Amino acid sequence: MLKKVFIKTFGCQMNEYDSNRIYESVSKIGYKKTHNMDEANCYILNTCHIRDKAKEKVYHEIGRVKKNFKSKDKPIVIVAGCVAQAENNEMIKREPYIDIVIGPQAYHKINDSILNYSQKNEKNEETDFDSILKFSYFDKIKNENTKVSSFLTIQEGCDKFCKFCVVPYTRGPESSRSFYKILDEAKQLISNGSKEITLLGQNVNAYLYEKNGKEYRLSDLIMELDKFPELKRIRYTTSHPIDMTDDLIQCYAKSKKLVPFIHLPIQSGSDKILKLMNRNHTVEYYLSIYKKLKKINPEIEFSSDFIIAYPGETNKDFEDTIKLIKKLKFINSYSFIFSPRPGTAASNLNLIDKKLAKERLKIAQNELFLNQILKNKKSENKVINVLVENKMKNQEKFFGRAEHMTAVIFDGKKDIEGKIVPVLIENSNQNNLFGKLKINKSVIAA
Ligand code: SAM
Ligand code: SF4
Ligand code: F3S
Repeated sequence: MLKKVFIKTFGCQMNEYDSNRIYESVSKIGYKKTHNMDEANCYILNTCHIRDKAKEKVYHEIGRVKKNFKSKDKPIVIVAGCVAQAENNEMIKREPYIDIVIGPQAYHKINDSILNYSQKNEKNEETDFDSILKFSYFDKIKNENTKVSSFLTIQEGCDKFCKFCVVPYTRGPESSRSFYKILDEAKQLISNGSKEITLLGQNVNAYLYEKNGKEYRLSDLIMELDKFPELKRIRYTTSHPIDMTDDLIQCYAKSKKLVPFIHLPIQSGSDKILKLMNRNHTVEYYLSIYKKLKKINPEIEFSSDFIIAYPGETNKDFEDTIKLIKKLKFINSYSFIFSPRPGTAASNLNLIDKKLAKERLKIAQNELFLNQILKNKKSENKVINVLVENKMKNQEKFFGRAEHMTAVIFDGKKDIEGKIVPVLIENSNQNNLFGKLKINKSVIAA
């Protein structure tokens, strides 16, 4: 009998990438991907631990699965991802409906864990940090999940230990994948139709691979990818300001495909808070990177992450953040109230009053959203280049993205998926641009 596997994914793009690789791994032991959870013989929850009540959310979700399968055969239930890493065996003890707990650096063991469970009924927990083995395992399995815009993980883990962040504990130490294996996977994706590749890592610009005395950095990868004629756009995320080295900055001058957009989290506009967070850089340093990039290309846009109401944040510190948002006019940014993470250095600090924290978040988000709305408004009545990702379900419309990542919904025509096309923007809101394909003959072949 054909077995089916269903994965529900929370968290960042790296989890999304991992889930797709897990689908490919388990297909080797006879599990076919399904979009319908009800028919799953194996249910995998790929979890995120970055903020809020992540752990409780997982038990809640497992409770729903339990209810759903009450009158059906129980699937093998696997908790993967960052909560699995943080909670390990405790999860099976607390919720015996869970059969396997597997951390993000142990996915090379997922097939064995499933086989072991299905043959011997043995529950198990795999939470060793072994990203090198994980990389080499997945290097041997073809990445068949090709989309117009594809993710490609090049680096895992983090050694920076920002005081608020759980990532160094859930993903382990920084580790970079082989330069050549990354290029092999990129070649596969491109030959299967990818036109855009986003290089991924928790600290993607800390990428450093050494072989035979030679060092390979993110800038080398970008310049190598630049040579593939069929590839149209290159992105990377997420970066730390400290690792924005000059070789990487120069890629914005040299590369023809690196988009003029960078997601560069700053977290706060106050040097005092940055120091308390252990970010190891100042606002001035961030501004120096901003200026260098804008000098190379004034069209480069920035987005960022902000943690609001970090313990110790005064009104003045918060105002400094707002000033920075107004000054740099970030687009597409993320902002959240500080959420204490168990096991991190900031976990026991005195929290800022909830009501005040919420008020500050609202003010910060209003500023960020305003930047976004104004930036989108500016595109109205202009023609912009859009990489077409897909035709929208049940509609005669297409979905694509502008270079600055903004989602574009537009009236198009047949056979434009995977192409960069000129779209006349007629309307906009905070998150989207709306328009129509400019003229048929000016479609830029991809
Ligand atoms: N490596 C990236 C950097 O250095 O900025 C960030 C990666 S982290 C997975 C993504 C974002 O989650 C962070 O930039 C931060 O804004 C947010 N985040 C992390 N821990 C948080 C916490 N405890 N509370 C609220 N937001 C948090
Ligand atoms: Fe977390 Fe990023 Fe800091 Fe690493 S650099 S600890 S991933 S916020
Ligand atoms: Fe979440 Fe883990 Fe990514 S905590 S943000 S899934 S690295």
